[in-house]
Amino acid sequence: MGDSIHGVLGICHVANQACPLICYKSRILFLPKGVSVMNICVIGAGYVGLTTAAVLAELGHEVNCIDQDKHKIEMLNNGEIPIYEPGLKELIYKNYNYLTFAESLDGYIKRASVVIICVGTPSWEDGSTNLCYINSVIDDLSSRINSYKTIITKSTVPPGTNEWIYTKLLEKGVPPQLFNVVSNPEFLREGSAIHDMFHADKIVIGLRPDDQQSLSVVQEMYSGISSPYIVTSLNGAEMIKYASNAFLATKISFINEIARICEAFHVDVSDVAKGLGLDPRIGPQFLQAGLGYGGSCFPKDIKSLEQTALSKNIQPHILRAVQTVNDTQIDIYIRKLRLTLDDLPNRKIAVLGIAFKPNTDDTRYSPAERFIRELSESGCIIHAYDPKAKLDDHHRPNVIQKTTVNEAIHEADCVFIATDWEEFKQLNWSEVKQLMKGTIIFDARNCLNREKVEQCGLHYIGVGRG
Ligand code: UGA
Repeated sequence: MGDSIHGVLGICHVANQACPLICYKSRILFLPKGVSVMNICVIGAGYVGLTTAAVLAELGHEVNCIDQDKHKIEMLNNGEIPIYEPGLKELIYKNYNYLTFAESLDGYIKRASVVIICVGTPSWEDGSTNLCYINSVIDDLSSRINSYKTIITKSTVPPGTNEWIYTKLLEKGVPPQLFNVVSNPEFLREGSAIHDMFHADKIVIGLRPDDQQSLSVVQEMYSGISSPYIVTSLNGAEMIKYASNAFLATKISFINEIARICEAFHVDVSDVAKGLGLDPRIGPQFLQAGLGYGGSCFPKDIKSLEQTALSKNIQPHILRAVQTVNDTQIDIYIRKLRLTLDDLPNRKIAVLGIAFKPNTDDTRYSPAERFIRELSESGCIIHAYDPKAKLDDHHRPNVIQKTTVNEAIHEADCVFIATDWEEFKQLNWSEVKQLMKGTIIFDARNCLNREKVEQCGLHYIGVGRG
């Protein structure tokens, strides 16, 4: 079957609107008025790029996903998905005929009307954003644009970056009538990225002041997703993204600081979080005290926003404090473990959780992994387990990754919950007690039912829980 549209097969009526039925790549689609199948290039096949590509293919578009990582592209072309993200594999398989994976834009860029940039934006040593991958996308695009493209940036970039992308493309000789630049940051959470994209609470669009047409291109691309649009300037959209992540990280550090105070007054921080969360002005989310935030976004984005503020001589007091709390959270729990268990170097600790949060295999800036690394310095034996994530560091003789929970907790003096996977919440605590040597359950994510644990004769310690 070719990949062109084979004429209109008939007409159906949707919401009193006559919609042509078309056959496209062996799929029968109906196109509401004004909606067409678009040819889209997604550059970058990480969490954001793959999720975006799969969702846009599901919405009916033809999507080419480009990544310079040869191995990743080979995997994708062999039906292997390089990351674990619930539902992603199924969605890619379902839309395999409408997705291509390639190393180079050549052969794809000509036909694309939309290009979506989803490459990584790592940090420089000082915390500011390294735009080297964005830069190389600009180089790749500038030599290949020969018909009109709407260039959409989804990568998280500091305010001013999309303006800079526009200027760079002009400087490299791309005629202004052949492109426009749009900022469309993503708000996907790893572990629920597909759901978050289909059920976005908002779609943020940043446009250049004289851009009359990009909004309708983006709306057409997302038709099928019903979300309110926030339309602002390029800088405005970039700021919304940073401010969102900074605010969420602030909530986490706030509750972690409150947990420290609760502990001193024998107050359970979970009760305090419940009380706070019921106030609609505050809301219940992101008030779970624990080992602190991690992942590929919050640590990097807060630092980047801090540097952005400093570059304009603005002192980012709150952003600094948020990071200070987060950076010291693990030390507190290592100190607490030392106080709870005498002779730590001769103990065996089962650490449950390696990923930075549940439902992902991602260990980037994982507090759980950092905890394992720092705890291992004490010389104790660590048996780590995670349902999906692998330990990066294989060089510590006292750290062993086990393949089941039971293997990890066998003969352990203490079980330490470092990531709040559902599997750990569902553990049978009587069985755990039988397998362990000691009785201490350290719930560093406040995710367990304390009573259930204690009923089995185990000693429960949480975060700021009196
Ligand atoms: C975050 C944002 O939630 C997304 O909206 C955003 O799109 C994404 O960053 C991004 O910029 O790409 P994500 O990094 O996937 O998503 O993870 P979160 O669910 O936000 O969790 C971040 C960290 O905070 C995790 O380590 C988690 O364990 C921790 N956390 C979260 C807490 O310690 N307490 C909480 O109450 C909530």
